[in-house]
Amino acid sequence: MNTKPTEPQSLVMLGAGGHAKVLLSLAISSGLQVQGVCDPELKRSGASTWRGIKVLGGDEVLELLDCTDVGLINGIGQVVGSSLRQSIYERAVGMGFRFPVLVHPSASVDASAQLAEGVQVMAGAVIQADASLGVNTIVNTSASVDHDCSVAAHVHIAPGVTLCGSVQVATGAFIGAGATVIQGLVIGEHAVVGAGAVMVRDLPARGILLGQTARCRTLSDE
Ligand SMILES: CC(C)(COP(=O)(O)OP(=O)(O)OC[C@H]1O[C@@H](n2cnc3c(N)ncnc32)[C@H](O)[C@@H]1OP(=O)(O)O)[C@@H](O)C(=O)NCCC(=O)NCCS
Repeated sequence: MNTKPTEPQSLVMLGAGGHAKVLLSLAISSGLQVQGVCDPELKRSGASTWRGIKVLGGDEVLELLDCTDVGLINGIGQVVGSSLRQSIYERAVGMGFRFPVLVHPSASVDASAQLAEGVQVMAGAVIQADASLGVNTIVNTSASVDHDCSVAAHVHIAPGVTLCGSVQVATGAFIGAGATVIQGLVIGEHAVVGAGAVMVRDLPARGILLGQTARCRTLSDE
Protein backbone atom coordinates (compact mmCIF):
# COMPACT_ATOMS: atom_id res chain seq x y z
CA MET A 1 0.00 0.00 0.00
CA ASN A 2 1.30 3.48 -0.83
CA THR A 3 1.12 5.49 2.40
CA LYS A 4 2.93 8.56 1.05
CA PRO A 5 0.69 11.63 1.55
CA THR A 6 -0.45 13.32 -1.65
CA GLU A 7 1.48 16.46 -2.60
CA PRO A 8 -0.50 19.65 -1.87
CA GLN A 9 -2.10 21.15 -4.97
CA SER A 10 -1.10 24.76 -4.42
CA LEU A 11 1.40 26.69 -2.37
CA VAL A 12 1.41 29.67 -0.03
CA MET A 13 4.56 31.71 0.68
CA LEU A 14 5.42 32.67 4.27
CA GLY A 15 7.34 35.93 4.38
CA ALA A 16 8.08 38.53 1.75
CA GLY A 17 11.74 39.44 2.19
CA GLY A 18 14.76 38.71 0.01
CA HIS A 19 14.72 34.93 0.54
CA ALA A 20 10.99 34.77 -0.28
CA LYS A 21 11.57 36.76 -3.48
CA VAL A 22 14.17 34.26 -4.68
CA LEU A 23 11.91 31.33 -3.78
CA LEU A 24 8.99 32.84 -5.68
CA SER A 25 11.20 33.02 -8.79
CA LEU A 26 12.26 29.39 -8.17
CA ALA A 27 8.60 28.32 -7.91
CA ILE A 28 7.67 30.15 -11.11
CA SER A 29 10.67 28.62 -12.96
CA SER A 30 9.51 25.20 -11.80
CA GLY A 31 5.93 25.77 -12.99
CA LEU A 32 4.50 25.69 -9.44
CA GLN A 33 1.34 27.54 -8.44
CA VAL A 34 1.79 30.03 -5.59
CA GLN A 35 -1.66 31.27 -4.64
CA GLY A 36 -0.61 33.98 -2.20
CA VAL A 37 1.72 35.30 0.48
CA CYS A 38 1.33 35.72 4.27
CA ASP A 39 3.41 38.47 5.80
CA PRO A 40 2.49 40.69 8.77
CA GLU A 41 4.40 43.70 7.35
CA LEU A 42 2.64 43.48 3.99
CA LYS A 43 -0.68 43.19 5.77
CA ARG A 44 0.09 46.31 7.83
CA SER A 45 1.08 48.19 4.67
CA GLY A 46 -2.35 47.48 3.16
CA ALA A 47 -0.85 46.01 -0.03
CA SER A 48 -3.21 43.68 -1.91
CA THR A 49 -0.56 42.04 -4.10
CA TRP A 50 3.16 41.27 -3.85
CA ARG A 51 5.17 40.48 -6.98
CA GLY A 52 1.99 39.48 -8.79
CA ILE A 53 0.53 37.21 -6.09
CA LYS A 54 -2.24 37.94 -3.62
CA VAL A 55 -1.47 39.15 -0.07
CA LEU A 56 -3.56 36.79 2.07
CA GLY A 57 -2.80 38.49 5.42
CA GLY A 58 -0.45 37.88 8.32
CA ASP A 59 0.37 34.76 10.35
CA GLU A 60 -3.31 34.31 11.35
CA VAL A 61 -4.06 33.11 7.80
CA LEU A 62 -2.58 29.69 8.66
CA GLU A 63 -5.62 29.05 10.88
CA LEU A 64 -7.89 29.51 7.86
CA LEU A 65 -6.03 27.42 5.28
CA ASP A 66 -6.74 23.73 4.64
CA CYS A 67 -3.46 21.94 5.33
CA THR A 68 -4.52 18.94 3.25
CA ASP A 69 -4.87 21.12 0.17
CA VAL A 70 -2.23 23.84 0.56
CA GLY A 71 1.52 23.40 0.96
CA LEU A 72 3.79 26.08 2.42
CA ILE A 73 7.03 27.67 1.30
CA ASN A 74 9.22 28.93 4.13
CA GLY A 75 10.27 32.30 2.77
CA ILE A 76 11.93 33.40 6.01
CA GLY A 77 15.69 33.48 5.54
CA GLN A 78 17.97 31.97 8.16
CA VAL A 79 20.23 34.65 9.55
CA VAL A 80 22.78 34.36 12.36
CA GLY A 81 21.17 34.90 15.75
CA SER A 82 17.53 34.43 14.69
CA SER A 83 15.40 31.31 15.17
CA LEU A 84 12.35 32.70 13.36
CA ARG A 85 12.71 30.46 10.29
CA GLN A 86 12.85 27.32 12.43
CA SER A 87 10.01 28.33 14.78
CA ILE A 88 7.65 29.21 11.91
CA TYR A 89 8.43 25.87 10.25
CA GLU A 90 7.82 23.91 13.46
CA ARG A 91 4.60 25.75 14.26
CA ALA A 92 3.16 25.10 10.78
CA VAL A 93 4.20 21.42 10.80
CA GLY A 94 2.50 21.13 14.21
CA MET A 95 -0.69 22.41 12.55
CA GLY A 96 -0.43 19.66 9.93
CA PHE A 97 1.08 21.66 7.05
CA ARG A 98 3.66 20.27 4.67
CA PHE A 99 6.60 22.04 3.04
CA PRO A 100 7.42 20.48 -0.33
CA VAL A 101 11.08 20.16 -1.32
CA LEU A 102 12.00 22.93 -3.78
CA VAL A 103 14.84 22.53 -6.26
CA HIS A 104 15.63 25.19 -8.85
CA PRO A 105 15.68 23.77 -12.39
CA SER A 106 19.32 24.86 -12.81
CA ALA A 107 20.47 23.00 -9.67
CA SER A 108 21.96 19.52 -9.94
CA VAL A 109 20.85 16.94 -7.39
CA ASP A 110 22.20 13.40 -7.66
CA ALA A 111 19.54 10.70 -7.70
CA SER A 112 21.06 9.08 -4.60
CA ALA A 113 20.91 12.28 -2.50
CA GLN A 114 18.22 12.47 0.19
CA LEU A 115 16.34 15.72 0.65
CA ALA A 116 13.96 15.94 3.62
CA GLU A 117 10.73 17.95 3.82
CA GLY A 118 11.11 21.68 3.27
CA VAL A 119 14.63 21.56 1.82
CA GLN A 120 15.30 24.44 -0.58
CA VAL A 121 18.01 24.10 -3.24
CA MET A 122 18.62 27.34 -5.08
CA ALA A 123 19.84 28.16 -8.59
CA GLY A 124 23.16 26.63 -9.61
CA ALA A 125 23.63 24.54 -6.46
CA VAL A 126 25.07 21.02 -6.70
CA ILE A 127 24.23 18.11 -4.37
CA GLN A 128 26.40 15.07 -4.98
CA ALA A 129 25.98 11.31 -4.49
CA ASP A 130 24.74 10.03 -1.12
CA ALA A 131 24.55 13.49 0.44
CA SER A 132 21.63 14.01 2.80
CA LEU A 133 19.89 17.23 3.84
CA GLY A 134 17.63 17.57 6.88
CA VAL A 135 14.27 19.33 7.12
CA ASN A 136 14.00 23.04 6.38
CA THR A 137 17.63 23.30 5.26
CA ILE A 138 18.68 25.83 2.60
CA VAL A 139 21.40 25.18 0.02
CA ASN A 140 21.73 28.64 -1.40
CA THR A 141 22.79 29.96 -4.81
CA SER A 142 25.74 28.10 -6.40
CA ALA A 143 26.71 26.27 -3.20
CA SER A 144 27.97 22.70 -3.47
CA VAL A 145 27.47 19.80 -1.08
CA ASP A 146 29.73 16.95 -2.07
CA HIS A 147 29.40 13.19 -1.79
CA ASP A 148 28.39 11.63 1.54
CA CYS A 149 27.87 14.93 3.35
CA SER A 150 25.33 14.66 6.14
CA VAL A 151 23.56 17.96 6.80
CA ALA A 152 21.00 18.09 9.62
CA ALA A 153 17.82 20.16 9.95
CA HIS A 154 17.47 23.97 9.81
CA VAL A 155 20.95 24.54 8.37
CA HIS A 156 21.77 27.43 6.01
CA ILE A 157 24.49 26.78 3.46
CA ALA A 158 24.93 30.28 2.06
CA PRO A 159 25.72 31.25 -1.56
CA GLY A 160 28.94 29.90 -3.00
CA VAL A 161 29.85 27.57 -0.11
CA THR A 162 31.89 24.45 -0.87
CA LEU A 163 31.39 21.46 1.42
CA CYS A 164 33.89 18.78 0.38
CA GLY A 165 33.01 15.09 0.77
CA SER A 166 31.73 13.51 4.02
CA VAL A 167 31.31 16.74 5.99
CA GLN A 168 28.81 16.48 8.88
CA VAL A 169 26.78 19.54 9.76
CA ALA A 170 24.60 19.58 12.89
CA THR A 171 21.21 21.22 13.41
CA GLY A 172 20.89 24.96 12.99
CA ALA A 173 24.43 25.62 11.77
CA PHE A 174 25.12 28.56 9.45
CA ILE A 175 27.86 28.34 6.81
CA GLY A 176 28.60 31.82 5.47
CA ALA A 177 28.91 32.84 1.84
CA GLY A 178 31.91 31.47 -0.02
CA ALA A 179 33.25 29.38 2.87
CA THR A 180 35.16 26.19 2.08
CA VAL A 181 35.01 23.18 4.39
CA ILE A 182 37.49 20.41 3.70
CA GLN A 183 36.48 16.76 3.64
CA GLY A 184 35.34 14.79 6.66
CA LEU A 185 35.01 17.70 9.13
CA VAL A 186 32.25 18.09 11.71
CA ILE A 187 30.36 21.34 12.30
CA GLY A 188 28.47 21.45 15.63
CA GLU A 189 24.92 22.56 16.41
CA HIS A 190 24.25 26.25 15.78
CA ALA A 191 27.89 26.84 14.88
CA VAL A 192 28.71 29.69 12.47
CA VAL A 193 31.31 29.50 9.73
CA GLY A 194 32.02 33.12 8.77
CA ALA A 195 31.81 34.22 5.14
CA GLY A 196 34.95 33.38 3.17
CA ALA A 197 36.46 31.14 5.87
CA VAL A 198 38.51 28.08 4.98
CA MET A 199 37.72 25.44 7.58
CA VAL A 200 40.39 22.80 8.22
CA ARG A 201 39.48 21.63 11.75
CA ASP A 202 36.19 20.57 13.37
CA LEU A 203 34.04 23.38 14.77
CA PRO A 204 32.25 22.76 18.12
CA ALA A 205 28.59 23.53 18.82
CA ARG A 206 27.96 27.30 18.87
CA GLY A 207 31.54 27.96 17.75
CA ILE A 208 32.16 30.85 15.34
CA LEU A 209 34.92 30.53 12.77
CA LEU A 210 36.26 33.75 11.30
CA GLY A 211 38.56 33.62 8.33
CA GLN A 212 40.77 36.39 7.07
CA THR A 213 39.05 39.58 5.99
CA ALA A 214 40.25 42.18 3.51
CA ARG A 215 41.48 45.36 5.23
CA CYS A 216 40.33 48.82 4.20
CA ARG A 217 42.96 51.57 3.71
CA THR A 218 42.70 55.06 2.24
CA LEU A 219 44.93 55.99 -0.69
CA SER A 220 47.42 58.75 0.14
CA ASP A 221 47.45 61.91 -2.03
CA GLU A 222 50.94 61.22 -3.36
C1 LIG B 1 30.73 35.70 11.03
C2 LIG B 1 29.69 36.79 11.12
C3 LIG B 1 28.33 36.16 11.46
C4 LIG B 1 30.12 37.70 12.27
O1 LIG B 1 29.19 38.72 12.40
P1 LIG B 1 29.33 39.76 13.60
O2 LIG B 1 29.39 39.02 14.89
O3 LIG B 1 28.23 40.77 13.41
O4 LIG B 1 30.75 40.38 13.36
P2 LIG B 1 31.18 41.91 13.21
O5 LIG B 1 30.73 42.43 11.88
O6 LIG B 1 30.75 42.66 14.43
O7 LIG B 1 32.75 41.79 13.20
C5 LIG B 1 33.48 41.45 14.37
C6 LIG B 1 34.92 41.20 13.95
O8 LIG B 1 34.99 40.01 13.20
C7 LIG B 1 35.52 40.24 11.91
N1 LIG B 1 34.75 39.45 10.97
C8 LIG B 1 33.40 39.47 10.78
N2 LIG B 1 33.06 38.57 9.85
C9 LIG B 1 34.20 38.00 9.43
C10 LIG B 1 34.49 37.00 8.47
N3 LIG B 1 33.50 36.42 7.76
N4 LIG B 1 35.75 36.64 8.30
C11 LIG B 1 36.73 37.22 9.03
N5 LIG B 1 36.53 38.16 9.96
C12 LIG B 1 35.28 38.55 10.15
C13 LIG B 1 35.32 41.74 11.67
O9 LIG B 1 36.26 42.25 10.74
C14 LIG B 1 35.51 42.28 13.06
O10 LIG B 1 36.88 42.32 13.31
P3 LIG B 1 37.52 43.50 14.23
O11 LIG B 1 36.89 43.35 15.58
O12 LIG B 1 38.99 43.19 14.19
O13 LIG B 1 37.14 44.78 13.54
C15 LIG B 1 29.51 37.58 9.81
O14 LIG B 1 30.48 38.54 9.59
C16 LIG B 1 29.47 36.65 8.59
O15 LIG B 1 30.47 36.22 8.03
N6 LIG B 1 28.22 36.41 8.19
C17 LIG B 1 27.90 35.58 7.04
C18 LIG B 1 27.11 36.42 6.03
C19 LIG B 1 26.60 35.57 4.93
O16 LIG B 1 27.17 34.57 4.53
N7 LIG B 1 25.43 35.92 4.44
C20 LIG B 1 24.75 35.15 3.42
C21 LIG B 1 23.31 35.55 3.39
S1 LIG B 1 22.42 34.69 2.14
